[in-house]
Amino acid sequence: MTDTLNPTDAAASVLDRPAAEIVADLTLEEKASLTSGADFWTTKPVERVGLPAIMLTDGPHGVRKQREDSDHLGLADSVPATCFPPAVALGSSFDPGLLERVGIALGEESQAEGVAVLLGPGINIKRSPLCGRNFEYLSEDPIVSGVLGSALVRGLQSQGVGASLKHFAANNQESDRMRVSADIDPRPLREIYLRGFQRVVESEQPWTVMCSYNRLNGVYTSEDPWLLNSVLRDEWGFDGLVVSDWGAVNDRVTGVAAGLDLEMPASQGRTDAELVAAVRNGSLDESVLDTAARRAVELVQKAVAGQRPSTGSGNEGGYDVDAHHALAREAAGASIVLLKNEGAVLPLARDASVAVIGELARTPRYQGAGSSLINPTRLDSALDEIRVLAGAAGAEVPFAAGYGDDGEGSDELTAEAVAAASDADTVLLFLGVPAAQESEGFDRDDLELPAAQLALAEAIVAANPRTVVVLSNGGVVRLSTLAEQVPAIVEGWLLGQAGGGAVAEVLYGVVNPSGRLAETIPVRLADSPAYLDFPGEHGHVRYGEGLFVGYRWYDARELEVSFPFGHGLSYTSFEYADASVVAAADGVTVRITVTNTGGRDGAEVVQVYTSLPGSTVTRAPRELKGFAKVVLAAGESREVEVHVRREDLAYWDTRVDRWLVEGGTYIVEIGASSRDIRQTVSVAVDGDAAGIPLTMESSIGEILAHPVAGPIVQQAFAGGDGADGSTAGALMADPSMFKMMASFPIGRLASFPGMPVGREQVEQLLAVANAQA
Ligand code: BGC
Repeated sequence: MTDTLNPTDAAASVLDRPAAEIVADLTLEEKASLTSGADFWTTKPVERVGLPAIMLTDGPHGVRKQREDSDHLGLADSVPATCFPPAVALGSSFDPGLLERVGIALGEESQAEGVAVLLGPGINIKRSPLCGRNFEYLSEDPIVSGVLGSALVRGLQSQGVGASLKHFAANNQESDRMRVSADIDPRPLREIYLRGFQRVVESEQPWTVMCSYNRLNGVYTSEDPWLLNSVLRDEWGFDGLVVSDWGAVNDRVTGVAAGLDLEMPASQGRTDAELVAAVRNGSLDESVLDTAARRAVELVQKAVAGQRPSTGSGNEGGYDVDAHHALAREAAGASIVLLKNEGAVLPLARDASVAVIGELARTPRYQGAGSSLINPTRLDSALDEIRVLAGAAGAEVPFAAGYGDDGEGSDELTAEAVAAASDADTVLLFLGVPAAQESEGFDRDDLELPAAQLALAEAIVAANPRTVVVLSNGGVVRLSTLAEQVPAIVEGWLLGQAGGGAVAEVLYGVVNPSGRLAETIPVRLADSPAYLDFPGEHGHVRYGEGLFVGYRWYDARELEVSFPFGHGLSYTSFEYADASVVAAADGVTVRITVTNTGGRDGAEVVQVYTSLPGSTVTRAPRELKGFAKVVLAAGESREVEVHVRREDLAYWDTRVDRWLVEGGTYIVEIGASSRDIRQTVSVAVDGDAAGIPLTMESSIGEILAHPVAGPIVQQAFAGGDGADGSTAGALMADPSMFKMMASFPIGRLASFPGMPVGREQVEQLLAVANAQA
């Protein structure tokens, strides 16, 4: 591996000169060399000008710095690092402050390992519950993804380590991910798939953005000037570097021309030579290569400026391994979602008689497979941690595996588990998706838990109905049958290296669960929005559900769900009162008083959804626009404020190709989930002028709605009362006739006999109206 950053005088001196000046000193070959990797994880140095190499490494929920020469697939051993909860868990925390702290810890570990850029966070939208990489993504909602993604980037970059916001864009499946074209209409593209990226870029300026493998509307994202230059840079103001996903470059010259700055990993010099040749033969303007090289130099400068003297890796004192493990445990505890708790089966008393069943309790599944695989500094199992808590009260906790590592069962394992279950008051049954089914690189086939586990669950429930199911899964599983069989379900996702302790703490009430679903759990796979066209065919996947992703879909179709978006129970209860909302130039501010009405301290996630009845554009019945996690002591009341930014009220208007806030009275729903709305208020919001000129093609309805032309046309038509026999008079007098004519382009109506205005007058009217509007 190439030697990377060293705080030598040479490296520090690169800060003395603007990047453009350094680039001006480079040869064509040197410039090209800066825009691709030296190997799997490092850039190339240019020692002549004191430019060191820097290291980029996965990410996102831990530092995966490989020890030996890289193999990319994660087979080579990586240095131990804290395995924080993957995004599926962190997303459920709904806690930006927590993600920022995790980001800080990731930054500290990156610093200790000499890593300049950590490859994350991944904030792609969970379009289908089948996506094999959903465990690495935050939510089905762009506000949740954008707010939480921003927090992680903020924390990481506060430590002088760069983020790599990925995978830009529309990488929502793993099937054929290297080639497939995500075919998405402009509104869902902007409002759902790009919105989170826009927020993170505008608010945090990640050092790098990683373009995805796939095509977007037919064009590889690595060579899409619209995506990388027009949208990312010109519209959003991104001033960092675009790095390719590892192996995402199709045609390097086209890519650089489109705004791709750095190809990773190395291409053994082949594509650098292509760039040099393209400049020499005039097919690539040298200034374009200069820009990419300048951005590469600027990235190195940021890394040099941010670099702290390393005191050695984790166990040698580079960071506080214990404190990071504790943070991983806290984060896991805040991410667990208590889905069901009938009859208050949970929390358990410390001295309760419990039996733990399921191999996953002993051998935890705590992260997903692929490039994000972290080598943890330590690993807690739920079984050990349950025994610690129960043991302190003198309770013994019997265990039966129930099934093997592969998720398969046997008569013997079942019999042993049933025996243990029968002897206990409460059974803690650990079920989950086997590791082999969830990974980067392929999608899942279904949402089912292994048949052997479901059969085991039936046998256990028959022996002891007081059964609590604890789940380990990166993507959601179908729970519609299980939820009817057991009184309590704890959604334990993949919780990172300290998840075992967090699960035990939630089960015994040491931690009051406060996670909420950042994605809907449907009743059936067939109900899910992308069901009919996921994962596409012949190189294309059509996003036919349009805007209706996640809860937007289930709500619009009025579909029953197993557990709705935003859902999550607590061991206490919360009441909402006195909601109010005010509009200002920068958006609307919602205030609501939340009271912890139960007997325990706890945290509530207050969710704010909006809708606009009578909107002129298609909208979901409700859309999340803001949220706040508030910690309340038992009995405590607090006024919670949630600000909804004006830009988050906007929709993408395809007539003018920009964001527009539609004026009107917005309904603001405040609730504990998308299906548990507690208070509703409304607020008038001024709209943005669309600035669409009237033409002869404009309809009578559009003209009448126009502030200048409307009243004039109204008056002209009002001349007749119908009794005079004129067409105009008849129109005004008969409401259904008028409604019918409202869709008529004015240019065509103007030629009709009996009209009060002729074509010429209409043209004049339009000119006046357009000039004044
Ligand atoms: C993944 C990225 C990852 C990169 C480097 C790719 O296969 O899609 O998320 O950062 O490899 O390991």
